[in-house]
Amino acid sequence: TYDVKINTSNLNQFCMPSTVVIGGFFGDEGKGKIISYLALHDKPTIVVRGGAGPNAGHTIKDGDKTYKVRMLPSGFLNKDAKVMIGPGVVVNPDVLLKEINDFGVEGRAFLDNNCGIIEQSHREQDSAGRLKEKIGSTGSGTGPANAERAMRTLKMAKEIDVLKSYLIDVPLEINSALDRKENVLIEGTQGTHLSLWHGTYPFVTSKDVTASGICADVGIGPKAVDDVIVVFKSYLTRVGTGPMPGELSAEETSQKGWEEFGTVTGRLRRAAEFDFDLAKRAIMLSSANQISITKLDVRFPKCAGVKSIDELDDDAKSFIKNIEEKLGVPVTLIGTGPLVDDVIDIRV
Ligand code: IMP
Ligand code: MG
Repeated sequence: TYDVKINTSNLNQFCMPSTVVIGGFFGDEGKGKIISYLALHDKPTIVVRGGAGPNAGHTIKDGDKTYKVRMLPSGFLNKDAKVMIGPGVVVNPDVLLKEINDFGVEGRAFLDNNCGIIEQSHREQDSAGRLKEKIGSTGSGTGPANAERAMRTLKMAKEIDVLKSYLIDVPLEINSALDRKENVLIEGTQGTHLSLWHGTYPFVTSKDVTASGICADVGIGPKAVDDVIVVFKSYLTRVGTGPMPGELSAEETSQKGWEEFGTVTGRLRRAAEFDFDLAKRAIMLSSANQISITKLDVRFPKCAGVKSIDELDDDAKSFIKNIEEKLGVPVTLIGTGPLVDDVIDIRV
């Protein structure tokens, strides 16, 4: 059981180094890359994933290796960190076990006893009919599994034999680590405007994916969070259906060099200009106190691979400055290339 300690010290000085990273647009903001950078740089003892399920896809490039991650936390590159999946996430055991094997994380990968389990029937429901055609779902079975969970009929991880050796109590592990003043990195999936509560319903995913939702998924309360980093890409993309302000044609998208394909589905992503209204609302919904801007090199090719703010040219600098001024939150991490350490880190 959890060892409750009464904290009598000044609450303002009571610092637990927990960081939550979430997406601010429609997913695919480049969270995976930023999370792997933080996992290597900040040395968390635990990287824990919240969010919906294997509908998420993060691409991580480390040297000449490219990893496409759907179930494990993107922070697995830090070999000293335990990687965990919170009870709020629905898990496809085949995808999880393959990633544990392919990415060499056996022995330090865990999931909560109460993670929900995606079965073949969920994938079938997700790959045909209304969910596929109207919502443009990823076909991963995530939505139907969450629906069954709400019906209280979904299987839990603790009922699945092949998962036995990976099961733990994730909330207990992360709260105990925070009590020991260790760093914990909490990663979100999808993006704010795909949230079931706050997004462009019905063109949304099957969970809330704002910072509060992600914290609930892994079992951490709002007062135990130190930093909320919202990740915005330098331009907007959306895969699947639903409204998208200022959507560009396929030709305009390719002219700008903003053409992207989905990690999970391979679909061409729709693209548009950076949207300040969506960004402002994402910050409000998650109380974000830091902004990360990714793919700055796609907008400003001259800044490819740059690692210090002084080396940015004037156009790139004023793009960042304008974001800070319009949104009133500091930009602390900037992605300048696909590699894990292609990052300008200006956190204080
Ligand atoms: P579902 O979550 O698979 O049901 O898909 C619902 C909507 O959310 C579709 O438009 C998907 O393309 C989108 N979606 C779900 N997960 C992600 C993600 O990780 N990145 C981007 N879009 C996503
Ligand atoms: Mg993705």
